[in-house]
Amino acid sequence: MPSHRKIKAGIIGFGRMGEMYLNQMLKSHQWEISAICDTDPDALAIAANLVPAGTLLTSDENRIFEDPSIEVVVLATLADSRKKHIFKAVEQSKHVITEKPLGSTIEEEKAVLEKLRDSRIMISVNLPLRTAWYHKTIKDFIATGEIGDLAIVRVCHMTPGLAPGEGHWAEGPLFHDCGMHYVDIARWYAHSEFKTWNAQAIRMWDYKEPWWLQAHGTFENGIVFDVTQGHVYGQLAKDLTHNGYVDLIGTKGIARMHHDFVTATVELHGISQTRVIKKPFGDKNLDILCQLFAQSVLSGIMDPALPQVEDAVIASEYAWKFLADASEKDMPVRGNIKTLEEIRERRNNKRIGYGLLRKKKKIK
Ligand SMILES: NC(=O)c1ccc[n+]([C@@H]2O[C@H](COP(=O)([O-])OP(=O)(O)OC[C@H]3O[C@@H](n4cnc5c(N)ncnc54)[C@H](O)[C@@H]3O)[C@@H](O)[C@H]2O)c1
Repeated sequence: MPSHRKIKAGIIGFGRMGEMYLNQMLKSHQWEISAICDTDPDALAIAANLVPAGTLLTSDENRIFEDPSIEVVVLATLADSRKKHIFKAVEQSKHVITEKPLGSTIEEEKAVLEKLRDSRIMISVNLPLRTAWYHKTIKDFIATGEIGDLAIVRVCHMTPGLAPGEGHWAEGPLFHDCGMHYVDIARWYAHSEFKTWNAQAIRMWDYKEPWWLQAHGTFENGIVFDVTQGHVYGQLAKDLTHNGYVDLIGTKGIARMHHDFVTATVELHGISQTRVIKKPFGDKNLDILCQLFAQSVLSGIMDPALPQVEDAVIASEYAWKFLADASEKDMPVRGNIKTLEEIRERRNNKRIGYGLLRKKKKIK
């Protein structure tokens, strides 16, 4: 088979992420989107304006799973249908690019891992921090010994993003939905498994679930960590801002990164060199994910740089554990529903905010 052939793919779930995959794949010479499935007719109507003539638009996922010409399915629904879709992909021998999490409970995610164990499909999960240039640059720098032994991993992601009740109800509280990325990247830097942890959360605006959580603890190899995540960062401020960084502290030097969602700045302070690197942030890095996955399908060998489902499940599991730990402690309330309603109004109707969902979702 010539290596320049296009890979036929179908996208299931055409919300914010599904549209990002479509746009990425339309730009690429490696992909051809044969079909898009969404249970919401409004989503299919949006897709109709974006896809080339001849693309199948359907609410029936089986039209994708049962099409023998489709080699890859992109799973971008919410987590409550992930397990069913991955099971179907295994049964129909489709390769999979999937959104996280791999299920709406850890039991579902473990069932997915079990189902995949003896399967021959290739599957990667969108953990974009793992393919981000800034994290790879820092990890390579650490590997040279420039900061001595890595001792402390600090990760922070606070934005005026997804507000409570806006969407993603199936992915669990925010620290699970979004926080699992930062749990994952802390473990990726430490190269070790979580050993101990303490978590503290707060229920902002009297919402039923915490919308900010900080966990700290140790890894098996003695590295310590803290992870802070919340979409509680000045949603009603006149000018929006955010605070996202990693801080890697070694026995001799440090490496760190911060970004403004446009540019990421890496600062390396090693024993023999100091470097500052500024490059485009890269957002979800879907270009890298789709390119590596296409190469893997064409070569028949999964690229080791692709994020693995096992890592996503471990990150998900520990995000749940940190939430459970926080829920055993005092979880204070600050703010009230009135402020939350103002935030929702600003995000949904005035369309001001970070990570806006494509259209207004039912508020629960
Ligand atoms: N990896 C990342 O960085 C990242 C970022 C954002 C979201 N996500 C994940 O991506 C997924 C989608 O998020 P989103 O922001 O695009 O949500 P969204 O609500 O904008 O889109 C979800 C879409 O899936 C459709 N859908 C739901 N069930 C379906 C089914 N059974 N069959 C077909 N279509 C179905 C909905 O109608 C909707 O159009 C979530 O699981 C979320 O956790 C990941």
